[in-house]
Amino acid sequence: MKNSKLISLLLALILVASLTISVLADGVENGNATLTRGTFVTELFKLRGAADTEKHQKGFDDVPEDGELAQAVRWAVDTNVANGYGNGKFGPNDPVTREQMATMFYRYAQNLGKGFTGAWMFNLDYPDAAEISDYANEAMHWVVMNRIIFGTEKGLEPKAFSTNSQLSLVLERWQNSLDANETSDMQYLVLVNKLNALPDDWESKLDTVTTVNSLGDTVEVEREAYNAYLALKEDLAENDSIYLELDSARRSIAEQQEIMNSFTEKYGADYAAKTVATPGYSEHHTGLALDLYFRLDGKDIYYNEDMIKYPEIWEKVHAKLANYGFILRYPEGKEHITGYGYEPWHIRYVGNAYIAKEIMSQPGLTLEVWLEAVNDPELTIDYGKSEIYTNEELNEAMVQIKCKFASFEGCELHGLRYAGDESCSEENIKWLNSLDEGKNYIQVVEFLSDFHTSADVKGAWEFDKEYKDYQWWLARTKDGGWQLLSWGY
Ligand code: DAL
Ligand code: ZN
Repeated sequence: MKNSKLISLLLALILVASLTISVLADGVENGNATLTRGTFVTELFKLRGAADTEKHQKGFDDVPEDGELAQAVRWAVDTNVANGYGNGKFGPNDPVTREQMATMFYRYAQNLGKGFTGAWMFNLDYPDAAEISDYANEAMHWVVMNRIIFGTEKGLEPKAFSTNSQLSLVLERWQNSLDANETSDMQYLVLVNKLNALPDDWESKLDTVTTVNSLGDTVEVEREAYNAYLALKEDLAENDSIYLELDSARRSIAEQQEIMNSFTEKYGADYAAKTVATPGYSEHHTGLALDLYFRLDGKDIYYNEDMIKYPEIWEKVHAKLANYGFILRYPEGKEHITGYGYEPWHIRYVGNAYIAKEIMSQPGLTLEVWLEAVNDPELTIDYGKSEIYTNEELNEAMVQIKCKFASFEGCELHGLRYAGDESCSEENIKWLNSLDEGKNYIQVVEFLSDFHTSADVKGAWEFDKEYKDYQWWLARTKDGGWQLLSWGY
């Protein structure tokens, strides 16, 4: 008895301590000292565990010649983590803003080969995302995506000064993310469908939890996906009075075979093939696909034919999926792409909310199309030269074009280029505002594309023809992401 009281007290103390830390987390109003450039590079240098620097930079007037700070500054400059001011000064006592911290930290991570590789374009969903300086844009995306810097209730506050305690948290989260990467090889964007079987080594990487649903069935789910599901479930229960349950998540090959057998017996082989994946080719093997059902007026509604009668419930569920990293995997009318008819209950965890939002922001966009759009090696991209937009901003616009283009059946996009800063004219801004009234778009971007049509092209296109300079127009508001508003000749 005494022991358990002691344990409770200890737990309470740990809780208070961790709450104190989380209050400090990214809270700029706390009394902590402002982080300086000198402290930042020194702490990072310690973490790096480097004995000395390789090259020897000329000293800075405002950095002592010897000692830890001198070594750290030399290392930071050698590795491009931080630069001097070009006037012989390094500014070791100057404060560091949150976006500067993100940038220096990102450069440090890049030195370790941990930066973005490949596609990373997504909107930062914070009210002040537009305040991020161009130079810090990629870094800020990376630190947010890797959960190293979070926003406060005010947003990301890129121009606010960092504090020493924020640096400690950043370093701690960095360590956690390294640890997590070491223990988890999960490929949250894995594609399993009629053409792509479950990867051979999947089982060895999978970490699952098991739970029991309202029907008393045991359900097994990939660990991170399960946590995301719990957050979604809580949100829907509290805010929409929708009470979700999990019907089925991870299935073994044998379990999938059982389902196939029972569907074949009940509905016939044709219907079963359209509805149930061949064992080995079901997304359910990944543990990342979840079949939902719900409780309504104290009853469980879980047969497909019953669940489909509640479109208004599914609409509310689907509207919240992306916030928790889920997508609707088999949208209506996309059977020719996914291989399956509409399944409002089948959701798929894709690893983070940014990618999920990218996919869910276009109704009917499937994982197949999104993956193809962002990873197309046949496509030549020309960013041109822009004084207005960074390549990352252009990328964000281009991903929308690529996703839209993917719905042009029988057309193959092979060239996409930025049309130049002159498209962002007053006249064009006015034109795009007239297409979508009440939005107040302030910037416009135009792209030109080249594509080829094949023999099975649909619509008004001619067969086997090269189309050149096909136009795409997007606009954005002060705080919003790009909106694709017009395309054509
Ligand atoms: N119902 C989905 C397609 C499956 O069986 O995996
Ligand atoms: Zn399913």
